[in-house]
Amino acid sequence: MKVLVTGGAGYIGSHTCVELLNAGYKIIVVDNLSNSKLVALERVKEITGKELEFYNVDLLDKVALYQVFSNHRIDAVIHFAGLKAVGESVSIPLKYYHNNITGTLNLCEVMQAFGVNRMVFSSSATVYGLQEDVPFSEEIPLQTTNPYGRTKLMVEEILRDLYVSNQNWSIALLRYFNPVGAHPSGYIGEDPSGIPNNLLPFITQVAVGKLSELKVFGNDYDTHDGTGVRDYIHVVDLAIGHIRALENVLNTAGVKAYNLGTGTGYSVLDMINAFEKVTGIAIPYQIVDRRPGDIGTSYANPTKANKELKWVAHKGIEEMCKDAWRWQSYNPNGFDTKVKHKALK
Ligand code: NAD
Ligand code: UD1
Repeated sequence: MKVLVTGGAGYIGSHTCVELLNAGYKIIVVDNLSNSKLVALERVKEITGKELEFYNVDLLDKVALYQVFSNHRIDAVIHFAGLKAVGESVSIPLKYYHNNITGTLNLCEVMQAFGVNRMVFSSSATVYGLQEDVPFSEEIPLQTTNPYGRTKLMVEEILRDLYVSNQNWSIALLRYFNPVGAHPSGYIGEDPSGIPNNLLPFITQVAVGKLSELKVFGNDYDTHDGTGVRDYIHVVDLAIGHIRALENVLNTAGVKAYNLGTGTGYSVLDMINAFEKVTGIAIPYQIVDRRPGDIGTSYANPTKANKELKWVAHKGIEEMCKDAWRWQSYNPNGFDTKVKHKALK
């Protein structure tokens, strides 16, 4: 079984490549390396002891994409490739719409031309927007607050229209909550460019001494300690969710949305405490104003994925913090770190 992975050199894509190879799939990765490095895939090969094929192709280059499909008999596609920074999407919306939407249209057109109609798509809990009630289940009305979120919402709609036009399509829309952590080898992980926007990469960079203190965005939310609550999910659990979704789309038809989250919310202070407990490193922090656009509480109702995909997230916040720290401390400069890794010897 041959699976094409778009954006497979990125954070979630590389972890999913490990799980795909471990499960016996053959994989072809297409990535333009706009937010990733080829070394991530070298490390995927080292972790698994298996080979994969890589094409440095931009989804906006339809001719090159067509060539990839001509070279391989592809059974299904897992589609991660996209730009993902919310703030940046507000500054350069056209780039986000073009990359995320035109890229997906090109992919679907080429898939259609080759009769490939099984797809797992990276959506996001961002499609729930500003909701009052938690947990979020797949049926609540969708809304979103920024261009990045709108690209996810629009692509979900495009994929639904595609299925209406041809019921041979089988598509899973995976709405991730807050992916964190790293492969337990410490060999691959999240390597944000510049100062991280997200909480756990910020904490690990404070711990490694690259940043001086964490700013906690608000302590006046209606939560158990006043700080924002999120559904953090270990990236390896998330990657395994893709294998379950792939099995589902290979064996069924339709377009189905699934929340991939743990169903439990933790606050910013809970995460700081968990990190300090497992690493023994103090994280200096300061409470500052709320970040504009943030909501107080977000967590998933993951029952549909639990039942239909037979998937459950197993790893708790201490394991998330431990694995995020192992990755950061082995690789203080992310994939640019030139150290030899103890983990894989
Ligand atoms: P990432 O940036 O690490 O990975 C995305 C990959 O896609 C990168 O390797 C990038 O080089 C590649 N890419 C981007 N545009 C491309 C194009 N036009 N052609 C070819 N390759 C292209 O991001 P990630 O965190 O691994 O996220 C993967 C997917 O999951 C994205 O679609 C993202 O929007 C979605 N998602 C991520 C999160 C999160 O918190 N990380 C949450 C919800 C949804
Ligand atoms: C962000 C994205 C969202 C994406 C999600 C998962 C925004 C507005 N939203 O949401 O689209 O799907 O990541 O990757 O960027 N926090 C601090 N200090 C920090 C960083 C974060 O206190 O330096 C707090 C936040 O206020 C929030 C929590 O930590 O309460 C988590 O923040 P973050 O990791 O940025 O995730 P989201 O806000 O859920």
